[in-house]
Amino acid sequence: MSFSIDHIRSQFPILHRPLPKGVRLAFLDTAASAQKPQCVIDKESEVYETCYANAYRGVYRFGSIVDEQLEATRARVARFIGAESPEEVIFTSGSTMSLNLVAMTWARVFLNAGDEILLNEMEHHANLVPWQMVAQERGAVLKFIPLTADSQLDLNGLDSVLTPRCKLVAVTGMSNMLGTINPVNELAKRAHAVGAIIVVDGAQSVPHLPVNVREAGIDFLAFSGHKIYGPSGVGVLYGRQELLEAMPPFLGGGHMIDRVYKTHSTWSAPPAKFEAGTPAIAQAIALGTAIEWIEQVGLPAAHEYEQGLTQRAWDALMQIPGMKIYGPPPSQRGGILSFSLAGAHPEDLAQLLDRKGVFVRHGHHCTMPLHDKLGVSATVRASFGVYTNNEDVAQLVEAIHFAREKLRLS
Ligand code: ALA
Repeated sequence: MSFSIDHIRSQFPILHRPLPKGVRLAFLDTAASAQKPQCVIDKESEVYETCYANAYRGVYRFGSIVDEQLEATRARVARFIGAESPEEVIFTSGSTMSLNLVAMTWARVFLNAGDEILLNEMEHHANLVPWQMVAQERGAVLKFIPLTADSQLDLNGLDSVLTPRCKLVAVTGMSNMLGTINPVNELAKRAHAVGAIIVVDGAQSVPHLPVNVREAGIDFLAFSGHKIYGPSGVGVLYGRQELLEAMPPFLGGGHMIDRVYKTHSTWSAPPAKFEAGTPAIAQAIALGTAIEWIEQVGLPAAHEYEQGLTQRAWDALMQIPGMKIYGPPPSQRGGILSFSLAGAHPEDLAQLLDRKGVFVRHGHHCTMPLHDKLGVSATVRASFGVYTNNEDVAQLVEAIHFAREKLRLS
């Protein structure tokens, strides 16, 4: 498919939904959750309408169809991220569960007192709090890569924080607040050089940037279905086979066992070992459709398009008096712009933007330490997807002018 924004937008029914009083919708909260193309919506309904049954349990026809379709998604995910085999792909409920799974299994077993975990202050709470929890439990030490003045990772200071005591580096592929794109390949090399593994939070990067886990040297990669134009309630944890095999299970229950005795049990091989209970069946199958869809659009073309849009939005926003955008220049970021407007409380601003049909997120965006570092308690965030267009950006700018008038900002 060649990249045509009008064709892409035509596939998202919600974008054409009229708001009251004929106000046009400018959906600018894709970093929180992306909208879904018709094919994804249809696929999820199709499962319920034509073949729904529990997975991995029945030999009757519906059961077999569901199993085949789930495994087809697993294989598609594996190809999409460059995994060596589908067995390295675990279905979870989303990035948060994926990251907690690594913290509560790999880290609990392989971290010892005095070992170090390397983080940084731009991480989403989902890639920070689980490491705090396991560090407290195991007596491990948290260290932080310094940030530059424009909120990029400062790799010049890396040697002082990445020591042979480091066992795990956790980093986001793209900051959910700043849009900063992080040098994951370089960090993976440096982590491996000291004998550490690298865990990448791909919640924001996987939907917008091509990734190849083998080429990048990523040991664990987490991402969510709902941010990649797929359903909510399903996500992925990629783990290198050898690591998955060495890890104990996370949740106990059905499907994850090999043999259960009265007093103990043995485990299935990965990925089943980490997939206790009934999975998000229709959602996981429709995640396969979402990935097929974005592959047809083409992630490199989508990224180039989103970066062009981000540059134009940056240029236009910077003309507004009192505007402060946080983070690096557009060339170093994805389609995420968090900002403050002097004299406007972020919540008031977000509410006024809503009156003009502009949907943005406000608050700390689950990045309190980053907001502390930036010296603000909250910001407003506009975030783009493959369906965002120039009209959306123009509407944002106009709506901010409207808010400035309403708030009587000079
Ligand atoms: N992690 C999502 C966001 O950044 C919810 O908004």
